[in-house]
Amino acid sequence: PLPTKVKIVEVGPRDGLQNEKEALGADVKIELVERLARAGFVNVEAAAFVSPKWVPQMATSAEVLARIERRPGTIYSALVPNMQGFEAALAGKADEVVVFGAASEAFSQKNINCSIAESIARFEPVARAAKEHGLRLRGSISTAFGCPYQGAVSLDAVGDVVARMRDLGCDEIDIADTIGVATARQTQAVMLRAAQEFPMGQLAGHFHDTYGQALANIYAALEVGVAIFHSSVAGLGGCPYAKGATGNVATEDVLYLMQGLGIETGVDLDQVVDAGLFISAQLGRKSISRAGNALAAK
Ligand code: HMG
Ligand code: MG
Repeated sequence: PLPTKVKIVEVGPRDGLQNEKEALGADVKIELVERLARAGFVNVEAAAFVSPKWVPQMATSAEVLARIERRPGTIYSALVPNMQGFEAALAGKADEVVVFGAASEAFSQKNINCSIAESIARFEPVARAAKEHGLRLRGSISTAFGCPYQGAVSLDAVGDVVARMRDLGCDEIDIADTIGVATARQTQAVMLRAAQEFPMGQLAGHFHDTYGQALANIYAALEVGVAIFHSSVAGLGGCPYAKGATGNVATEDVLYLMQGLGIETGVDLDQVVDAGLFISAQLGRKSISRAGNALAAK
């Protein structure tokens, strides 16, 4: 049987906008985050305290966290690669910090400029500080289904990083298909391997839709008991004009699937469609969400 209830983590304001060529001002991001929280997401990824030289789009993260109107019960998350990021997240009153590593050495080097082992060592003080201050701690594992530099990634490589993030004390661990190459059976195999190290109920599926497989992978993940999924409103991040950019699966499409399956999300699809129209207009283009566009045209 499929789960009767899932948690959708809306990552559009972070993962989506981070990959858009068009840099948006803080006001637009704030409005987006507020609209998404009102739509009912219990978790919105709103910020990333990373080097602005590496990811200029996230440079307004402090302002976004400082100025959003907080909805009680919503968890506002921030990515933090190190203690410098943690301090900024703490000052910004993030509810949850996300340490992010990879299952492939090559991607770890390219994304955060260190090896997997070095990354875990950097996350240790972050994890301790998060616990000390009562913040939720999430771990994200990139390239769990394939790496753009190294190619195949073994199941044990994923299991190993899951175990290390478990040992850090993560409350939740994201298994990410960074480049959207996974297919359905592989999704099940990776999730089942991860669940040998960490409870299935606290694993999240983070699927990019590069090869159009994300919804199939989500369904496959549901079949093995995954009940947390990440998605981006309007499929943000997949701007067709930004070469190489590939978005997360669109939230509207995921919600439409869950509705059809009778799986509770607590999120109002109509409000998400509106939020998708809003942010797409700000970016000066059409939404990438199929369900979003179909519903908007009704
Ligand atoms: P580094 O150059 O090795 O770090 O970068 P460093 O400690 O040597 O510091 C170099 C400079 O960065 C210094 O500034 C630091 O102050 C600054 P300078 O003296 O040169 O002016 N710095 C910072 N600034 C702001 N906030 C910080 C911070 N830390 C250092 N926290 C570092 C290492 C990790 C910082 C860098 O590589 C970085 O910022 N990478 C960002 C990577 C990133 O954001 N990637 C996208 C998010 S992950 C993702 O999208 C995947 C995910 O969606 C899952 C999936 O789909 O796979 C989660
Ligand atoms: Mg991602």
